[in-house]
Amino acid sequence: ILDYGGPNVAKELHVGHLRTAIIGESFKRTLRFAGARVTGDVHLGDWGVQMGQLLTQVRDEQPDLVYFDDGYRGPYPEESPVSIEDLQRLYPVSAARMKAEPAFAAAARHATVDLQAGRPGYRALWQHFRDVSVEAIGRVYDDLDVSFDVWLGESSVHDRIGPMVERLESSGVAEPSDGAVVVHVSRDDEEHQIPPLMLVKSDGGYAYATTDLATVEERVEDLEGTGAIYFVDARQSLHFEQVFRAARKGGIAPEAFVLEHAPNGTVNGPDGTPLRTRDGDLPLLRDALADIESIATASMDAKGLAADYPAAERERIAWLVGMAAVKFGDLSNHRTSSYIFDLERFSSFEGKTGPYLLYVAVRISSLLKKADEMGLERGPILAPAHDSERALLLEISEFAEAVERSIALRAPNHVAEYCYELSGAFNRFYEQCHILSEEDGSLQSSWLAVAALTRRVVVTSLDLLGISVPDRM
Ligand code: ARG
Repeated sequence: ILDYGGPNVAKELHVGHLRTAIIGESFKRTLRFAGARVTGDVHLGDWGVQMGQLLTQVRDEQPDLVYFDDGYRGPYPEESPVSIEDLQRLYPVSAARMKAEPAFAAAARHATVDLQAGRPGYRALWQHFRDVSVEAIGRVYDDLDVSFDVWLGESSVHDRIGPMVERLESSGVAEPSDGAVVVHVSRDDEEHQIPPLMLVKSDGGYAYATTDLATVEERVEDLEGTGAIYFVDARQSLHFEQVFRAARKGGIAPEAFVLEHAPNGTVNGPDGTPLRTRDGDLPLLRDALADIESIATASMDAKGLAADYPAAERERIAWLVGMAAVKFGDLSNHRTSSYIFDLERFSSFEGKTGPYLLYVAVRISSLLKKADEMGLERGPILAPAHDSERALLLEISEFAEAVERSIALRAPNHVAEYCYELSGAFNRFYEQCHILSEEDGSLQSSWLAVAALTRRVVVTSLDLLGISVPDRM
């Protein structure tokens, strides 16, 4: 089970969500390519105090809505009273009030407890929040060609929480602490003690860790997995350490069930801190994607690519170039490193970039097409005649190792690096061995077969990175 994406209901995706999505998607594709059975879970943040916060804000603005009428016995309207645009306005407003108004914060916490306890009007309104958010979030992931097998979330495990807490309490694993219930997870011999996991807050609400613990239980029982890997920001390392330790201590996950946090670094601005807009917000992903498209188009123009193609095809190619730019810009860095989000650099066709790799793949396609038109056949691959050819064949033979390394280390940058090396090896071969004008027929057909094989490995590697190659450009 792979846990990646991790968006929150009512909050629009921002560039901070890129890494987990890109790395998780790539890792999923790579594991699957190697034959593993994989379930990707988006793990929506849909059950925390933010939900109570939104409910309270809507109630303040529209107290007459039927969802707030305690005497109402249903059914509730099918149409959502809030749109995604409404939610995007409501979220920051309510978040600001949480900080500024103690009475609002208390009401929001109360509403969260009521929601979690099953108050019907709250559940019905919350379902609308979730549905409209999932639709909007899903559109952005579709654009990114990132997908999930299941859209479970924090709320999915709600029914497990009560019994789980009870079991942990009666077995003595969970202990009362200042009105709350916690699980001690530090070991006596540890130099740096780690704080206890918060299981039940003093107001009776459940914490982030509580739902994650119940999610471990669900993953062990329902999804029949052999383990779960979490592709989540490195800043949550302590959280996962607490959850995993509590899961072992409470007998929720057997030792054989893999629990692993594969932390990622952040997407930074030029100053080396997490990228922000001028207003100090994290830039929205959909705005960034629109920028990417126009920067990719400019980069294609600069190289004179696809100039006389039909407009729709040009647009499609620009999109693929942009995606290659962003994804390779991310995946060429090790998962744990942070990097500077520099679309100009990522979109260049020169250097270690996604567009450069697309260009090599397309160049091989057009070579093969020309050969077809000339009636040339591909033949058996002969022993290498040139150094550059030998180097290319050796590089091709390293593919499986790159895949294995990427899986073992949970680090798709190994496939990214490999793909770059392979492309360079092909370029050197292509410069030295003039395939189309070669007079020795069997050598020529061997070279064509080598080119076709290279193309297949480049395209496959790019696909493992979540990058699609256009037919021409
Ligand atoms: N929604 C969380 C956040 O925004 C990330 C969820 C990661 N996955 C998990 N199982 N906790 O921080």
